[in-house]
Amino acid sequence: MNSMIIVSAIFLALFAIIFTSYNPQNFFSPVPIPGSKNSLHAAKLLDLTGAVGPESLVFDSNGDGPYTGVADGRILKWEGEERGWTEFAVTSSNRSDCVRPFAPELEHVCGRPLGLKFDKKNGDLYMADAYLGLNVVGPAGGLATQVATEAEGLPFHFTNDLDISEDEDVIYFTDSSSVYQRRQHMLVTLSGDKTGRLMKYDKSSKEVKVLLSGLFFPNGVALSKDGSFLLVAETSISRILRLWLNGPNVGQIDTFAVLPGFPDNIRRNSEGHFWVALHSKKTPFTKWISSNLWARKALLKLRNFKRLQALLATKPHAAAIKLSDEGEIIESLEDREGKTLKFISEVEEKDGKLWMASVLMPYIGVYSL
Ligand SMILES: *[C@@H]1O[C@H](CO)[C@@H](O)[C@H](O)[C@H]1NC(C)=O
Repeated sequence: MNSMIIVSAIFLALFAIIFTSYNPQNFFSPVPIPGSKNSLHAAKLLDLTGAVGPESLVFDSNGDGPYTGVADGRILKWEGEERGWTEFAVTSSNRSDCVRPFAPELEHVCGRPLGLKFDKKNGDLYMADAYLGLNVVGPAGGLATQVATEAEGLPFHFTNDLDISEDEDVIYFTDSSSVYQRRQHMLVTLSGDKTGRLMKYDKSSKEVKVLLSGLFFPNGVALSKDGSFLLVAETSISRILRLWLNGPNVGQIDTFAVLPGFPDNIRRNSEGHFWVALHSKKTPFTKWISSNLWARKALLKLRNFKRLQALLATKPHAAAIKLSDEGEIIESLEDREGKTLKFISEVEEKDGKLWMASVLMPYIGVYSL
């Protein structure tokens, strides 16, 4: 039978259910976060001038920057109002076709830098490139060197974020899926993929060790202030996992937090609290989809991404959650109507300001606390 007929029938049934049991508008509207402040629309925007999708951002040890990786594969550095953005580094040497700000079909050629972190010991910048693995570039920038592209014989498909332990001289990083690539991120969520992994790269032995496998869309990574545990965001199931690295629970994992949306990067502030950027909040529809395998499978049959995105889209908004070192939500800030900010992917706190990245938008948001 024509699969389009099956899919259409399923959606007719689905919409019949929605219209009889819910106000359809509420079905696609985000679930409110208790106690959250609707204040992020007051953020100032730092435009990227000709680039989009600053997924992660980082400052160097002099406090200069931020540096950010954009959708055309470059890592840019902010050098102040006068000089603006300058090109700092690239992860691919084959960039003659990388001329458009957003071209997902070329990401494997141009590179797509996601998580960024400086090694405070020597000023090297480490980058998780979604297609080109873990990369590093010296303090002067230029063409990056590949550090790791596989673990235990299985190549990385979607390298995503990292954190560096200076004490142990190791880098913790995630590969979001062993099956899907970044440009198929919707499929990672919809298929319920759990082939993601957490790795540890030892800088002196150059060894890559798999610490956890079978993860659901592992994304942001952050070490605790005292280094006793590591957090890993599992985007598709809205969970933050905690892996104990030291102390009585060493080697154990537990659930650190369950969030009201889909977490992207996690960044620790100077007090040891964690800012988590939510790509979007949960809606009754996404909750329903995630608990119904048959509905996910039906959606997967719609191979057309634009249509998938349109079906799953909620009104764009921004949400940032601050977690204590015990995993409690201690603050949540939003731009509920998406007036200024949308789809944030990282929140970095520095000198009383929140710097907010976005995997889709052409700017970085700066919000005064
Ligand atoms: C460079 O990229 C192009 C696609 O843009 C590809 O056809 C070509 O094979 C690549 N060259 C090398 C040396 O990887």
